[in-house]
Parts: sequence; structure tokens; C-alpha cells
Amino acid sequence: AAKAVMQKAVELAPDAFIPGGIPDPLILERHALIGAPVPRVDGAVKVRGAAPFAAEFALDGMVYAALVHSTIPRGRIAALDTAAAEAAPGVVLVMTHKNAPRMKPVPMIFTQPKAAHGDSLPVFQDDAVYWNGQPVAVVLAETQEQADHATSLVRVTYHAEPAITSLAAARAQGLEPTAFMGEPQNVEIGDAEAALAASPYQVDTVYRTPLLNHNAIELHAVTVAWHDGALRIHDAAQAVAHTAWSLAQAFGLDEKQVHVTSPFVGGGFGGKLLWQHQVLAAAASRLAGRPVRLALSREGVYRVVGGRTLTEQRVAIGADHDGRFTALIHAGMVAMSPHNNMPEPFIMPAKSLYAAGSFRLDVQAVRMDMLANTFMRAPGESVGSFALECAIDELAGRMDIDPVELRRRNEPDRDPTTGAPFSSRHLVEAYRMGAERFGWDARHAKPRMRREGEWFVGMGCATATYPYYRMAGGAARITLARDASGRIRAHVEVAAHEMGMGTATVQAQLVAARLGVPLEDVTVSYGDSAFPGTILAGGSQQTAAIGSAVIAALRGLFTDLLRLGGHGTPLDGLHFDEVRGHFQDNASGLCKAGDPARRASYAELLERAGHDALQVEGQAPPPLESRHWSMHSTGAIFCEARVNAVTGEARVTRLLGSFDCGRILNAKTAASQFRGGMIMGLGMALMEETLFDQRNGRVMNPSLWDYHVPAHLDVPPIDVMWTDIADPHAPAGARGIGEIGITGTAAAVVNAIHNACGTRVRDLPATLDKLL
Ligand code: MOS
Repeated sequence: AAKAVMQKAVELAPDAFIPGGIPDPLILERHALIGAPVPRVDGAVKVRGAAPFAAEFALDGMVYAALVHSTIPRGRIAALDTAAAEAAPGVVLVMTHKNAPRMKPVPMIFTQPKAAHGDSLPVFQDDAVYWNGQPVAVVLAETQEQADHATSLVRVTYHAEPAITSLAAARAQGLEPTAFMGEPQNVEIGDAEAALAASPYQVDTVYRTPLLNHNAIELHAVTVAWHDGALRIHDAAQAVAHTAWSLAQAFGLDEKQVHVTSPFVGGGFGGKLLWQHQVLAAAASRLAGRPVRLALSREGVYRVVGGRTLTEQRVAIGADHDGRFTALIHAGMVAMSPHNNMPEPFIMPAKSLYAAGSFRLDVQAVRMDMLANTFMRAPGESVGSFALECAIDELAGRMDIDPVELRRRNEPDRDPTTGAPFSSRHLVEAYRMGAERFGWDARHAKPRMRREGEWFVGMGCATATYPYYRMAGGAARITLARDASGRIRAHVEVAAHEMGMGTATVQAQLVAARLGVPLEDVTVSYGDSAFPGTILAGGSQQTAAIGSAVIAALRGLFTDLLRLGGHGTPLDGLHFDEVRGHFQDNASGLCKAGDPARRASYAELLERAGHDALQVEGQAPPPLESRHWSMHSTGAIFCEARVNAVTGEARVTRLLGSFDCGRILNAKTAASQFRGGMIMGLGMALMEETLFDQRNGRVMNPSLWDYHVPAHLDVPPIDVMWTDIADPHAPAGARGIGEIGITGTAAAVVNAIHNACGTRVRDLPATLDKLL
């Protein structure tokens, strides 16, 4: 039976949702540092090769690990002969389920606030095999080459059991409803099927997207050591606090006994959470009594780290004679492993993008015996926007309405499925700006109208969208100190992550602006589970989560400065929310808001307080803003594609993204985030596909040789622009930018291909065999 899940917005006073409870000065007053294209503070050290990654920490007495992977999808290990491997040169030990330390289950993500493991399976605690490629033995040796070689000497035989490795077999087992982060993936408003049937214009089409794999430049790796029963881990992580807590549960330790650091990460995208390799490295290190480095090979990443699952999505839209949607149906299925809780929630874009008279949105799952799928840049939105935005293009063609205009006619004035007001939404303006810069008016309404030599040329567009998130648990510590020369410096410590996005740079800009301290006198430390808070790098929410925690910490700092040092200064008697950081006459300090003449320098305030430094920790308030407002980043993607009339090869020659993500805090790092996302969208559109052998559940292309990602020659110049309109309900006015670039892009490419050659691809990737 259909279940209506029309949600009521929480009714509370609007100012209760302003981060910190008071108007954010960085929204009210523009600061020169905000939006400035500040180069990455970690750039120089990375370019020089001086930035240590997780597989580059050399520990005394360290041994190297290599994995043996199962070759059946389901069953039991019958025999494991490790004698030859153990006798091989340099081998220290071979760990299997027989001699591994006893461990408690590693908590699966979402089951508890700090859980981080990709699935709920035990690690090396019995002889069961759950997927083809599951680790079954770990070899430790004095060198990596010795460990790699010895894995080839381990002999494993299995009692195979029947496995579900084909979509047909999985479907025959039945479909089940899904929930994403606890939220059921089902929305029903009105009778959408009846409204569709009664509509004068309709599209009703099925789109398919394949399994996709994570391919961060930096391979997943850990270097671990035990000291007096405590565990030290150098990890490539996007959730250090969660990783530490989860490993503590597995090994029966206090959370504080596990110390995870991750100062540099070469790309995460959702894949660098907790998988078996960290658990196995820690277990093997305990068994061997020596530090262990376990660096996955590229193939190892495909066997051990989950990626994006496949989808089959029906999109049906009914429209009246003016093109207004009477029905929006987006329903279908995803495949999951039997042991994870992460569907690909592809209905997310349809929940908030368009006004429609009725909705039916639904994600069901089938279960297959395979590695657990997981988060991969814009889980749900990436593939969901492909299907939805292609369907809208198909409807526009059928109705002979320009696709930009069709979207404008269905622009909602409030969230169409929850009824909540938008915090800030300027998608129509993003389309206007983007269309103008791209030269959209040169597009031919019909396909095959433009040909240059062998190439058909076309244009397409699609909407990008990603929700604003700010997860609970944000905290940060700020130290304001006067050094020996009297110079004021600020230092921030937060258990957050820099995976290449510009986290530390942008936070330094924000803190410098908030304090009125020169940028070079602010430092930000992150990637350390000993720092405050539990902010994970996911959901495009780090900037908001850290920002909110920093605001809270600064309130405490201003309070202490005024209480301890404000007496006898022009700030005497003022409350923390009546003062602002500011910089004047070569000195940074506090002034009364709106009255910069009434001020005192930090040096004077610290002097009067009798301290050289003040340190304050702040807890971010609960993320109530996203309960009261519908908060989403949006954007318009424009693409020019050419299709070769002889070979069917498709090439993208121009790409433009016009985004409405609130205030942009750093023009340089933001442009890189948008471009990087769009390049991943381009890969999804044209080339990426994990080839899964449906006979035996084996991934057949576990390498960058066989699994194609865009190379430089595949990527055209990418133009990016933004509305830069501050969101009054997000810290510093900024919504997320990390994931939105991948959304909409695949649809824009496929729509451009259709406009070029007249072929409609509904089954990604759009390889040449589908275009001839
Ligand atoms: Mo992202 S898939 O939330 O790392």
C-alpha cells in the first residue's frame, strides 16, 4: 500500500535557525577575503612531494601486507594451505580466519552515530565467503614484493554455495523498500498514475546506470602500530573520528586508545570510509607484534572498497498543454549486497526540483552476492538527475518547448514534496546566466541540424542539484595567542578532512575574516581523531559543519576576551554578539559592531586578561536549519557534444556549469570542485562502467587500463560561474559545492548527444556501439 510521507516543516522562530542564534556577520557584511581566489595553503608542500600520505609513514620494524582474495561469490573455505607462503623468503606470517585475533563486529555505517564500516559482515572470524574478491588471507613480509609474491603461494579451496550474481536472479527473489540515512525512499502525493494517464503530454521511459567504482588517485592505504595496547593508525580517511570509534569497538578498546590521523588524502569521494583493509592491518599488526603497512593495489580497491551500485529507473512525466507537470513518477530499483544499508537514493532530485500536481517517488532494492556498494560522489543525485533530466529533455522535444523554458515553467515556489520554504533558490537565474554565456540560443531545436565534416554537433542542458547538509557533532577548538614578538596568531583544530577540496584554505579565510587577523596568521589543523568534533567529509557538508563549530568557538573566545580583558577598554560592558573582529592601523582586535571607533586590540585584551593565549572549544548547535527550510544547491549544466557519423564516437567539446550554491567562499577552490565533479559526470556519461560477471560475481575490469575514466584529452575546457547569493540560513551564507558538479552533467551530455545525432541513449555509458 502506498504511504504518504508529506512532511510538515518544523514551526519555530526563524532566527532560531541562524547558525549560532545570531546573525552571521559574514552574511550581513561582505569581507574582502570571502570569495577571494586564495591558493591552497597545502599546495606548496604537495607539489614538492613533501606531504606524507598514509602509505608513506615508515615505522621502525614495519612489515608489508598483501591480500589473498576469494574467487567464489558465496560459500565456505574448505582448505587454506599457507605452508608454502609461510616458507617463502621474507614472510613473517600469514593471517587467516583461523589465527586472526577475535574481534567484535565493526559497526556498519548509520547503525550508530560514529559507525563507519561499509557492511555488517564479520572480518576473518569464520570460514564464510560473501563476495567474489573478499579477503581470505593476509601475508606479512619484510618487503612489499615478498608479500605480493607469497600471496601467489596460498592455496585455497572452497565449498561453493548457490549465489545470486545476476540481476534476473536477484529480481526473482523480490524487491524490498529502502531507506537512506533512516529516511524511507518513498513519496506519494496524489494519484500520479491516474494523473499521468489523463495528461495530454507524457513521457514514460526507463533509464539504466551501471555499477561504478571509486578511483581516487591515492590508493586506499593504512600504516598501523600498537603501543601498550593502544592503536595508532595513519589512514587515508574522510572520517577520522568515526574510524577511531569503529575500530575501538572491533578491538574492545576505549575510543581514546585508537588514534587516527590523516593529514593528506589523495581524493575520497565517499570511498575512503572504513573497509576491511584497516581492520585487517590492525589485526595482523597485533598478531605479528610489528607495525604494518597495508596499501591496496588498484585491483585491491575494486575487490575490497565498495562503489556505486547499478540502477534501473522509470521516469514518467505528465504535462498539460502549457507544459506544467501534472504527474512526476520516478521509481525503480537498485541492487545492494545482503549485508549493507546504503541504497542509491535516486529520487532525491525529483523530491525538490519541480512543481507537479502529483508525485510517486520510490526506490526499491534487490540483493546480490557482491561487495557492498557505498557512497560515491552525490549518491542518488548523480544517477537520479541523469534519468530525470533526460526525461525532461525528451518531454521538451515532444512538446516542442525549449528545455530551459520547460524547466522554468515548472519552477516551484516552495519545496514541492515537503511544503517547506526554500532557504534561498536562484536556479532560474543560474539558467539565465549560463544560457547567455554558453550561447544556448544558437541551439537547433531538432537533432541532426548541424554537421561539421564527419561530426554531428549538438547542445544539451540539465539541472544539477544537491542538498545542503550539516551533520550533528560539529566542534572546534580555537587558540588565540600573542607570540614573543607581540604578533597575534589564531590556530584552529578540528577533526575534519582535507582530501583536495581546499578545506584548510577556506577555513583559514573564514577565521581570518571573522577575527580580523591577516590570513597568514591563521592556521588550521585537521585530520586527527584527537581533535574536537566528529565532522566527516561527506555530504558536501564540511564547510558548513566546521563553520558552525567555529562560530560557536568564537562566541566563547569573544566572551572570554571581554570578560577577562574588556574592563577599562572601550568594549567594557559589551556582549559577545555586540562585537566583531576587525583589523585597523596594523592591529587586529575587537570593535563594537557598526562602531569601529570603539575598539580594543587583541594584544591589549590578552594583556589585560593576563594571558599570552586563550583557548576555547565550541560545539555547533543542532542542524535545525535544514528542518525548517528546504536547502539545496542547484545549478544549470550546458554541454556541446559531437558524434562521429562514421564511428559513433562521442566527444564533449564544451561544458559549462552555472551554480547557485549560496556564497562562494574561494573562487579558485570552488571552481576546482565544480570542474572535478563535472569531469566525474563526463566519465559517467561516456565511459565508466564496472563490468560484473553475472555468472560468478567477479569484477572483470579492476584496473584503470580496463575501467576508463576521463583523461586530459577527454576533457574540454570547462567554464564555471555562480550566482554568489548568500544563503541567510547557512554559516557564512554557503551551501555545499563538493558533489553538485557530478549531478546533471551526464544528462546534459546525453541530451547534447541526442541533439547532435538524434539517438537517445538511456543506458549509460553512451559508448559508440549505442550511437551508430
Ligand atoms: Mo561524499 S559520496 O558524501 O564523500
